[in-house]
Amino acid sequence: MEKYIIEGGIKLKGKVEISGSKNSALPIMIASLLTENKVVLYNVPKLKDIFTTIDIIEFLGKKVYWKDKSTVVIIQHRKPHKEKGFVVAPYELIKKMRASFLVSGALLANYKKVKAALPGGCAIGVRPVDIHIKAFEQLGVDHNIKGGYEVFVRKNLSSAVIKFSYPSVGATENVLMLASKIPQEVVIFNAAMEPEIVDLAEFLKKLGVKIEGEGSSFIKVVGCKNFISCDVEHTIIPDRIEAGTYAIACGITKGEIEICNVVAENLKALINKLRSSGLIIEIEDKKMYVSYKEKLKAQNIITRPYPYFPTDLQAQFMALMCTAKGASVIKETVFENRFLHVAELNRMGANIFVDGKKAIVYGVEKLIGAEVVVSDLRAGAALVLAGLAAEGISKVSHIYHLDRGYENFEQKLKFLGAKIKRIEE
Ligand code: UD1
Repeated sequence: MEKYIIEGGIKLKGKVEISGSKNSALPIMIASLLTENKVVLYNVPKLKDIFTTIDIIEFLGKKVYWKDKSTVVIIQHRKPHKEKGFVVAPYELIKKMRASFLVSGALLANYKKVKAALPGGCAIGVRPVDIHIKAFEQLGVDHNIKGGYEVFVRKNLSSAVIKFSYPSVGATENVLMLASKIPQEVVIFNAAMEPEIVDLAEFLKKLGVKIEGEGSSFIKVVGCKNFISCDVEHTIIPDRIEAGTYAIACGITKGEIEICNVVAENLKALINKLRSSGLIIEIEDKKMYVSYKEKLKAQNIITRPYPYFPTDLQAQFMALMCTAKGASVIKETVFENRFLHVAELNRMGANIFVDGKKAIVYGVEKLIGAEVVVSDLRAGAALVLAGLAAEGISKVSHIYHLDRGYENFEQKLKFLGAKIKRIEE
């Protein structure tokens, strides 16, 4: 099993280039299932979740190539295999990554009968798909659960007014994909507003789908039976969570870094909190300059759907608050079990108490290196950041979680001066 060995206490300095957004690339690669045309995607990060997505769409009929060693992915069409008339997204593939349930919307747009394995929960929560299913029903899809699979049979797809009980990112994406082949109006109230939704909508528009309101809570889609018949090219937006993680890494190590290829507009909630804590942030085009000036002040945050503070930066922000002046209250409202990093941060000398959905972080003078275990992707990032700031050596294990979402993590950190190495133990 691989581990990171981190020698803490070094101020990060220099430049870091942000990769394409994982959470944008995943649904867009899945949306390529909608079209028989060649799809060329630029700025795709080389990550475990992307490789899993490639396996899934190849299983479902695509042929995927990376162009040389670049970030360009070329997706070509082949016919999917069917089992007794059903296109099947099998459990072996779906269980590797929850986001793969998004294939249901894309496949139902094209095929009458689809079986998709239910993804199940993960460390941070139960993660049901009831909002996706209810919307599919409204659009004219019958379903029942059999042997751990959702068995979908498409009836007459028709226009619908869908009101989400919660602005689920995945459900919004699934509905956008299914609606993209319905040549009538589908409207979504309380849609997710994340930048990744906007990126998916931009991609679907290139296929000929009419979409209005993406990025707001009300989206209107008018799909088309036949897409525009030409190759589609699209550039994935920069990863806002990766950029945010490096900004926090700079703060926690008292450093001074330049973050390139970032859309600061998509990170407003974090930038506001970092500035209030005392970190200096300057923005110029697609660059962000972050520098530490004085001891950071405690900040309270509440995670909520975009544009509010993202749950995917909660753990990293908590690590930052561990050594801030004063007490911070961190409230997690998106996932029910997303404080798994707390016990590990406390092992490094942090002083955090959990009270239901809230964690109270009392700032301590310093963190001290320790052996810690990663429970999930973003918790892992928080522990690495804590290790970079801590006195002495930290050993971070189960780092395969980090490989799902951070491209060249240790290389980028090393380039900024960090002493971090991956070892096999
Ligand atoms: C996406 C992101 C993930 C991020 C999350 C919230 C991808 C690949 N993943 O996940 O990194 O943390 O958004 O910003 O883009 N829920 C239900 N029923 C449903 C759907 C969701 O109860 O049918 C609940 C979930 O259990 C969770 C909350 O809603 O508690 C948010 O989920 P959702 O917005 O759907 O997140 P994902 O799309 O899974």
